[in-house]
Amino acid sequence: MTPEAATTARGAGFVLPPYPHDRLAELHATAAAVPGGIVDCSIGTPVDPMPDVARRALVESAAAATGYPATIGSPEYRTAAAAWIGRRFGVEVGPEQVVACIGTKELVASLPRALSLRDPSRDTVLYPGVAYPTYAMGAALAGLRAVPVPVDDAWRLDLAAVDESDAARALLLWLNDPANPTGAGNDRAGMAAAVAWARSRGVLVASDECYAEFTCDDRGDPAEPVTALAFGHDGVLAVHSLSKRSNMAGLRAGFVAGDAALVAYLGELRKHGGLMTPAPVQAAATAALGDDDHVVEQRARYAARRRRLVPVLERRGLVHDGGPSTFYLWLRSASGAEDGWSITRRLAATGLLVAPGELYGPQGAAHVRLALSVTDERLELTVDRLERSPRPEGS
Ligand SMILES: Cc1ncc(COP(=O)(O)O)c(C=O)c1O
Repeated sequence: MTPEAATTARGAGFVLPPYPHDRLAELHATAAAVPGGIVDCSIGTPVDPMPDVARRALVESAAAATGYPATIGSPEYRTAAAAWIGRRFGVEVGPEQVVACIGTKELVASLPRALSLRDPSRDTVLYPGVAYPTYAMGAALAGLRAVPVPVDDAWRLDLAAVDESDAARALLLWLNDPANPTGAGNDRAGMAAAVAWARSRGVLVASDECYAEFTCDDRGDPAEPVTALAFGHDGVLAVHSLSKRSNMAGLRAGFVAGDAALVAYLGELRKHGGLMTPAPVQAAATAALGDDDHVVEQRARYAARRRRLVPVLERRGLVHDGGPSTFYLWLRSASGAEDGWSITRRLAATGLLVAPGELYGPQGAAHVRLALSVTDERLELTVDRLERSPRPEGS
């Protein structure tokens, strides 16, 4: 059941849809039964080391965590976040324009509710038609309409396709550059146009930039990341996470930055709600944000895995059909003979689990997403298995 269908089920109240990855339980078991075990590329959960600076800060600050942490983030954390935005994006924000969150999934899921409390006159959340499922779920959890914005052949938002009646009701527009699951991004002009489109219609922009450090150009080389804050702070929030940048997903650290009034509102709301990032986690995130060397290393790991796997998959009839950014491959059948679920089943039989593109919206149904967040050793195992597996018919 889609979130929208779930919310409209009469009499039953809000019926939760199955959690997207739980739909893979059977195929997970298939892959796990292969001798040598599963190579799980279905979830973008980092496996490489956390930077030493972060680990040290975490441990050193733990004993001092007797009191409550600052909900909005310690002055050090907010300052480090603002400095990182200045350094990496060339955009100036003050520490008072930053608020901590407990990883960004929590923020993504709760932002529509927070913003609709502030402005109940609008009831719609717009989000990319192929996207991280939590954008739609956040709208459902707020009792709002989730309206997907179609994406074009290059996986960019087609805002011209949004019905003006939906735009007039829209509270919020989600952007995600570079994008999960497609890897598309580095689209400065598209982002500028989207911010202008939203601003002219009184729609707030939440720009999820959690993969910004894994922005690449068309040749696959590291490129300057883009932030929606480059096009003015007014009505814009940029959402950032330490999970992918610094392999800290288990610690739960993120922040949101931008429009001073919105950030202050979110900070106050979060104080009332007790949404505190633990102090040692804030200390670790502060230290990680001050270090760029580990990010360079991580980028190189993902690039090497991409180079290793793409030709192997091509020999098995699968082409990467997304952009060069993030650490996801967005694969489709070269012959067009298989849809995303068929590809997922075929790969699961070799022990490799990927995510069917349909989990990211109906427009993704022909694709699968493969996360390069597996160790090099597991990657070699899957390369070996794929090379020995039968080629699909017609390839
Ligand atoms: C697009 C996108 N946004 C947000 C998140 C949430 O990340 P976290 O809660 O670890 O910060 C993810 C995680 O996969 C994601 O892919």
